[in-house]
Amino acid sequence: MCGNNMSAPLPAIVPAARKATAAVIFLHGLGDTGHGWSEALAGIKSPHVKYICPHAPVMPVSLNMNMSMPSWFDIIGLSPDSQEDEAGIKQAAENVKALIDQEVKNGIPSNRIILGGFSQGGALSLYTALTTHQKLAGVIALSCWLPLRASFPQGPISGVNKDIAVLQCHGDCDPLVPVMFGSLTVEKLKTMINPANVTFKTYSGMMHSSSLEEMMDVKQFIDKHLPPID
Ligand SMILES: *[C@@H]1O[C@H](CO)[C@@H](O)[C@H](O)[C@H]1NC(C)=O
Ligand SMILES: *[C@@H]1O[C@H](CO)[C@@H](O)[C@H](O)[C@H]1NC(C)=O
Ligand SMILES: *[C@@H]1O[C@H](CO)[C@@H](O)[C@H](O)[C@H]1NC(C)=O
Repeated sequence: MCGNNMSAPLPAIVPAARKATAAVIFLHGLGDTGHGWSEALAGIKSPHVKYICPHAPVMPVSLNMNMSMPSWFDIIGLSPDSQEDEAGIKQAAENVKALIDQEVKNGIPSNRIILGGFSQGGALSLYTALTTHQKLAGVIALSCWLPLRASFPQGPISGVNKDIAVLQCHGDCDPLVPVMFGSLTVEKLKTMINPANVTFKTYSGMMHSSSLEEMMDVKQFIDKHLPPID
């Protein structure tokens, strides 16, 4: 899109109204782009926070008969026992870590960054937060699941994000990623990190989508964990 090589287009960004002292990096779902989420986040923005919504690379997706679409990694199936694209998930997490490093270089410490996402993007945000050495301010995991869950320990994880604050949200009428996967993920998370820091919210009648009520909960979480500093 810009520049003269084939690298992915630059993320959609909602700049801070004043000096950015915190950031939210939000990863969209399968087949989407960062634009819709950047508009949604612009609707709940705080003046000291920069919102970054990258776009996934376009790749063939097994689940969709190898059709090419924006996707952070390959998805083979949506049931809990489906085979997973381990190499693709790990590479995607590396790319997100590089994006975090870039913001750190721009002057925002990683513990002033919240990582979040919807569906496949939410799954990637959870996986990245639980495996990175960058201490984050929190994770917002919407309508999603924990990828490669067998790769995580049975008990508490070690590492910088073992007490990380997690907001997990799910529509109770989700036909694509059933709310049961969300609650199983929460149960698993509570064994891995401090359970006092995990919040699970379900939304009555909501499908595989978002809602105003959910966005208000997202705003409240961001304001709590990324308060203004002067
Ligand atoms: C493509 O452009 C990006 C951004 O300017 C740069 O980081 C990357 O190294 C470039 N890649 C190649 C193969 O030139
Ligand atoms: C998708 O591509 C893979 C690898 O190229 C191939 O093995 C598989 O049969 C293809 N699936 C469909 C539904 O075309
Ligand atoms: C996690 O929970 C503990 C115990 O309630 C609390 O002291 C700590 O501040 C929480 N951490 C975060 C990041 O919210």
